Amino acid sequence: MATTNPTDIPRTLSWQGETTGCLRMIDQTLLPMELREIDCDSVEQVWEAIRALRVRGAPAIGVAAAYGVVLGVRSAASGSRDEFDAALDKTATYLASSRPTAVNLFWALDRMRQFAGGHPEASPSELTALLLDEARRIDDEDRAMCAAIGRVGAELLSDGDAVLTHCNAGGLATAGDGTALSVFFAAAAAGKKIEVYVDETRPLLQGARLTQWELMQRNIPATLICDSMAGWVMKQGRVQAVVTGADRIAANGDAANKIGTYSVATLAKAHGIPFYVAAPTSTFDLALPDGSQIPIEERAAEEITHGFGRQTAPDNAQVFNPAFDVTDAALIQAIFTERGVIRPVTTENVRKMVGSSAAD
Ligand code: MRU
Repeated sequence: MATTNPTDIPRTLSWQGETTGCLRMIDQTLLPMELREIDCDSVEQVWEAIRALRVRGAPAIGVAAAYGVVLGVRSAASGSRDEFDAALDKTATYLASSRPTAVNLFWALDRMRQFAGGHPEASPSELTALLLDEARRIDDEDRAMCAAIGRVGAELLSDGDAVLTHCNAGGLATAGDGTALSVFFAAAAAGKKIEVYVDETRPLLQGARLTQWELMQRNIPATLICDSMAGWVMKQGRVQAVVTGADRIAANGDAANKIGTYSVATLAKAHGIPFYVAAPTSTFDLALPDGSQIPIEERAAEEITHGFGRQTAPDNAQVFNPAFDVTDAALIQAIFTERGVIRPVTTENVRKMVGSSAAD
């Protein structure tokens, strides 16, 4: 496939037009073979896009849900305010049922609901327009957060480092340049020579399909490996750090991320390699004291037995397919947020950095 200039790559998701417009997004299920955008005109389409991972990654899911709210309420713009509020509640509850683990989804929906609650005087049509503005703010803030996380994390990488990452915490997972990948982009922009080892990330291959693609688009040297090779790569001294994203971080710093992250963090500890998490403050859930209560999504068995249309297990094989795992705070050297570095990762330091702005 030909390399595309990064400026030619459309935004992961963007709102088109005014309140009568639509949410346009890259259909990530088609990458890397096809770069196609789809338009969502209804909240049902946004729900399906989130559930089917057409849009994925914690921050991007949050932004998509915020725009999804506008799609869900706009048909109530000509009714009474009570009817509008009921439509908003129904829409937010519906979107919240799309995926359970990434807290950014719930954070964005709460923010949209609270925003509407803060404008009791607005008419339904005024409020529809105001909610679109609020969704755009969430989108813009996410972009700024990515850039800030990149700057913060890049400080901890040295010229010549090779870094391992898992899943995709890049521009495709956010409205901006990503979280973990933003760190690599910022380090490279600062003149550091950085090389990335990319876990393919079974079973849906977000690493192979999306991270490897993004890094190649941006001319960052990237080497794809199977998940099972991470330990050997570390043993050989090929990587000096691990950086991943997160879907939900509890108050003590326990961090949920794509299944396999916990294994990578355990391997990093065994080899004395620092394991870093890069995430915006919207990914923290301070209502949860630790990671044991983080809901872990379980997905269809076919993702493992019939990945990408080819049967790779016997008929009726029993399958366990959790989409995420939780890495203990003790395994995490530091968390990079848009506000700075949390290190060591303790409840006190998390609360000090994240304060009351996170889901609580
Ligand atoms: O199932 P996915 O592809 O939505 O999982 C995504 C991840 O686990 C990412 O690492 C995480 O959301 C962070 S994205 C900045």
